[in-house]
Amino acid sequence: MKKIAIYPGSFDPVTFGHMDIVQRGRKIFDHIIVAILNNPQKKALFSIDERLEMLRECMKDIPGLSFDSFDGLLVDYAKTHGACAILRGMRAVSDFEKEFQLALMNRKLNREIETVFLMTGMRWFFTSSSIIKEAAIFGGDITDMVPPLVNERVKAKYTKTR
Ligand code: PNS
Repeated sequence: MKKIAIYPGSFDPVTFGHMDIVQRGRKIFDHIIVAILNNPQKKALFSIDERLEMLRECMKDIPGLSFDSFDGLLVDYAKTHGACAILRGMRAVSDFEKEFQLALMNRKLNREIETVFLMTGMRWFFTSSSIIKEAAIFGGDITDMVPPLVNERVKAKYTKTR
C-alpha cells in the first residue's frame, strides 16, 4: 500500500528548509501532499494561490508530490486524503514545545495518524519564513535561504508595500 504523508504549514513563503524536509521525507513516504493551512486569522504576506504557485515551481523536480490548501482540522484532512502520517520539520529547541503540543493534540484527535519529525539540516537551522520576511523588510540578503523565485517575489512585495 502506498504510504502517503501530509506536510502541512503556512509556507509564507517556502524556504530551502521546507524543500530539504520534503526531499528527505520522500525517502520515507511514497507520496507527500504539501498542504497550506488556509487561516484567515493569520496575516500572510502571500495569498494561498501565490504560495501554491511558488511551492509548485520550487518543488517541480521532486517526484511524488502534490500541492493543496486546507481548512479545518489537519487530522481530518489527512484521513480524507488517505494519509498515514503528518510530516514536520524540527529546528532548534524553540520549536519543540509547539510541535510537541501539536503532535499530542493531533494524536488525541486521531490515533491512526502518526506525526513524523525530521531534524532540520544544519544549514537551515536558523531559516524560517518569519525571519526571512523580517530580514527582507529591512533590505537584508536572503538569497542563501530561499529559491531565486521566492527571493524575487519577496523583494517585489516589499518594494510594492514600501
Ligand atoms: O507552518 P506552521 O504555521 O507552523 O503550520 C502550523 C500548522 C498548519 C501545521 C497547524 O497550525 C495546523 O495543523 N493547523 C490546522 C488546525 C489543526 O488541526 N490544529 C491542530 C489541532 S488543534
